[in-house]
Amino acid sequence: MTEKNANRAIRRLHEVYRDYFTIGAAVNAYTVKQQQELLRTHFNSITAENDMKFESLQPKENQFNFETADKLIEFAEQNDMQVRGHTLVWHNQTPDWVFLGENEELASKELLLARMKTHINTVVGRYKGKIASWDVVNEVIEDHGDTLLRSSKWLDIVGPEFIEKAFEYAHEADPETRLFYNDYNESFPEKREKIYSLVKSLVQKGVPIHGVGLQAHWNLHTPSLDHIKEAIERYASLGLTLHLTELDISVFDFEDKRTDLLQPTEEMLEKQNKRYEQMFSLLREYKDVISNVTFWGAADDYTWLSDFPVRGRKNWPFVFDEDHNPKTSFWGITDFKSK
Ligand code: GLA
Repeated sequence: MTEKNANRAIRRLHEVYRDYFTIGAAVNAYTVKQQQELLRTHFNSITAENDMKFESLQPKENQFNFETADKLIEFAEQNDMQVRGHTLVWHNQTPDWVFLGENEELASKELLLARMKTHINTVVGRYKGKIASWDVVNEVIEDHGDTLLRSSKWLDIVGPEFIEKAFEYAHEADPETRLFYNDYNESFPEKREKIYSLVKSLVQKGVPIHGVGLQAHWNLHTPSLDHIKEAIERYASLGLTLHLTELDISVFDFEDKRTDLLQPTEEMLEKQNKRYEQMFSLLREYKDVISNVTFWGAADDYTWLSDFPVRGRKNWPFVFDEDHNPKTSFWGITDFKSK
């Protein structure tokens, strides 16, 4: 905490944002203990960082393991928090058996769809009424070139309709929960347009989709505020709700491979503060279309960015520091006049 803020009363982040959007954090079994106080105080929504992914919930066929996921739901219930479910259909963290048929050959389309249905039915059904929104399909857009969809076993075996099937199954399992398409690099114009055209086609086909998740793994310089604004407007023009689902602001540019820092520099913290302040000011302007902003973590003592994209390189992407105290950026996003 900087000197000038030392004696200021800390307001709860989610209360400051009560008239704007819910404030979330990605959590796991470790952080719900380690960061318990911080989570309870400042957040009113959680997402399981890994514990609701396919490999965690159904590591072997028909052997579901809900232990940790259930505990996270319980934590949310005890603390009056919403839950964002993450994620049902993805090319990563999905066990190999899902795509295999007999004799180690690829599963048939029918078999894979039947497995998808069983998984979605079981998982979404179990948490019916407890999970307010689900990232149904994650990251299916190809990053580069003209190709729309990323190559994956889902696509190879089922064809593009695997996407709409996932939404249909999820909707059948819980008609009330809100269903999202979620992706990264979502604010860069080239990828934004691809995401937009995919989601638009789903909407036009009458697929039950209610929202777009902007992962928002950003850094001090990119994406630009203009690009963020354009992305928000573009997705919102489809008439869907938007969530920022995995927000963090890396103090390193993606290409920056330095590993020597034990602390963030003052310059980094200043830039990060400014960036958070400008971004949240923009997000507040769009409160009518944005209903949740979730950080991919809560405080700088735990972040996936300390292992990605450079293994073992510490990062400090949040508005709370390693001791769970507010950083300057916390004041940057909480000091504003309500409109
Ligand atoms: C993607 C996924 C998340 C998580 C992050 C990295 O954004 O959607 O579940 O795996 O990568 O932590």
